[in-house]
Amino acid sequence: MPKKQRKILVTSALPYVNGSPHMGHLVEYIQTDIWVRFQKLREHNCIYVCASDAHGTPIMLKARELGITPEQLTAGYSKEFVDDFNDFGIEFDNFHTTHSPENEAVVGTIYSALRESGDIYTRTIEQSYDEKEGMFLPDRFVRGTCPRCKTEDQYGDACENCGATYSPEDLIDPVSVLSGTTPVKRESEHYFFKLSEYEERLRTWMSDATLDKNMVSKLEEWFEAGLQDWDISRDAPYFGFQIPGTEDKYFYVWLDAPVGYIASFRNLCDRDSSLNFDDYWGKDSDAEVYHFIGKDIMYFHTLFWPAVLQGAGFRTPTSVFAHGFLTVNGQKMSKSRGTFIKARTYLDNLEPEFLRYYYAAKLGPTIEDIDLNLEDFVARVNSDLVGKLVNIASRCAGFISKRFNGRLADSLPDPELFAEFSDASESIAEHYERREYSKAMRQIMALADKANRYIDENKPWVVIKDDSKGAEVQQVCTQGLNLFRSLMVYLTPVIPTVAAGARAFLGEDSWNWRDASTPLLGSQISKFKPLLTRVEIDQVQRMAEQSRESTSVPNDEKNDKPDDDTISIDDFIKVDLRIARIEKAEPVEGADKLLALTLNVGDTTRNVFAGIKAAYDPGTLVGRHVVVVANLAPRKMRFGVSEGMVLAAGPGGEDIFLLVPDDGAKPGMRVK
Ligand code: 2FM
Ligand code: ZN
Repeated sequence: MPKKQRKILVTSALPYVNGSPHMGHLVEYIQTDIWVRFQKLREHNCIYVCASDAHGTPIMLKARELGITPEQLTAGYSKEFVDDFNDFGIEFDNFHTTHSPENEAVVGTIYSALRESGDIYTRTIEQSYDEKEGMFLPDRFVRGTCPRCKTEDQYGDACENCGATYSPEDLIDPVSVLSGTTPVKRESEHYFFKLSEYEERLRTWMSDATLDKNMVSKLEEWFEAGLQDWDISRDAPYFGFQIPGTEDKYFYVWLDAPVGYIASFRNLCDRDSSLNFDDYWGKDSDAEVYHFIGKDIMYFHTLFWPAVLQGAGFRTPTSVFAHGFLTVNGQKMSKSRGTFIKARTYLDNLEPEFLRYYYAAKLGPTIEDIDLNLEDFVARVNSDLVGKLVNIASRCAGFISKRFNGRLADSLPDPELFAEFSDASESIAEHYERREYSKAMRQIMALADKANRYIDENKPWVVIKDDSKGAEVQQVCTQGLNLFRSLMVYLTPVIPTVAAGARAFLGEDSWNWRDASTPLLGSQISKFKPLLTRVEIDQVQRMAEQSRESTSVPNDEKNDKPDDDTISIDDFIKVDLRIARIEKAEPVEGADKLLALTLNVGDTTRNVFAGIKAAYDPGTLVGRHVVVVANLAPRKMRFGVSEGMVLAAGPGGEDIFLLVPDDGAKPGMRVK
């Protein structure tokens, strides 16, 4: 047992079940599963729960389109998720659904607590309404011409061409995507949660939760922009939970989705009497609760969710861990390029643990995106897993089986080398704990190189020829196999099936982290069977081919533009980049991060708010030249209107660097 056994509850974001799982989804579930397996291997009490996110308009409409019920639709996709997760070795302690009695009950408890604490109020709002379909339309279900640049067929919330944001009512010639008719404006009473009153409490939570610094910068930005109350209701027809005491109002899917974390745990408690619900979710809980999420849903998990929990008298999460997006071959996943790969298509062609290892080798604790480069994938898993790791065992096992009846020696010839592997234990553990998996993998592979060097230097295949040196060969191979074993213990969270194969070969029933530091001596091992075989580039190409085939090409054709991250030269030249001279730079009262800049852009002067206060003393900025986006639509901020954007590089906070033109650049010059 470790000194103190921690009580940990872990979640991954609940997958929205209106489509099949793909490689992008897997980043998060593999990342979380590795962390959970690591904690369990360290003998902590760690529970991993998840569920399908099964409510909302997209699910309702897709089911309608297919002529089935939303329950049928979500049951089908949930099964796909469960099966694929299972085949990738993602081991939940419970996988439930948000469309469950437990979730409805917890949502009800939270809602009545929030009403009692005065955090809920109603207000009448105006919204687009489709008279033919008889329903209010979410912004994305209205399309029309952008009021600013006049590009046709844009969504009701933002223009993909010029980036303007607006509401559906502002579109020219708006059309409902459901019926093709022109929506009308209609009033409806909505329920709001008073998020605006939570800034102080959220700031306290933020500093206790030791969040990643990029997440803190994001939160600071949101605080500075001012927290808006949150509309938690939707009108019928809607697939979700009805708001108690109403006829035709439903909870917005994003209210009941995170509650699904609690409900899934409740469902587990109802089946496992050793678990006490309040130990984890009660106000005085001493358990650690962590949510793994993608960076796109930080707003929901770091503002709405902790505020709702605080208001309803539940404990808040210990921390929230966000990861970045997946790119494939350096670009957004693309159906036409065959890089939009479904989890099942991968499984049909390749070993799941190759992907687990590859993601681990790429993952760090930040929100930086990770890239799956298919050629690098082949090279990396062949070189690291097959070439370095499994090779250690295959070079030693045969001698032990054939010449020593499968019996390991009683002592190690090089205990110092073993001690080096054992001493790495805490540093590797720390990397896992901090989600620095790429560092952990590097350290493990450096040790694998050492193990191979040891075998190279001691050459059992040569020594064995000398009959008098049998004992030496047994010892050298026992040493090699023990080095392999320690590395396999360290890699168990990442490649659990391969590790289980290695464990069985070594004749052991179970491992915990400490086993890496105690050698296995004098025991019987089994005949070695290759634990992994090389991956061939053909397998990867076949997978890409199948991904191309299995997608509906018309979708890409309909949009008539590539579904990748690129923009056309026409798009690019619309961005008016200019040299500006900073005439004035001042702190903004009440804003921690912002400086108010007055910029001379040649023929005009602009006021721009820039989030660079932590990095620059305003006094040092006056007179400097910077690059500015001069044709950005003015944006209303809490402290005034910002009329452009100054270009800078870096993650934020103190690490932000203004892009400064070379000498000779004059205000107003166009940047090309
Ligand atoms: O972004 C999504 O796919 C959501 N379904 C995640 C929900 S996470 C939690 F809040 F339920
Ligand atoms: Zn536009």
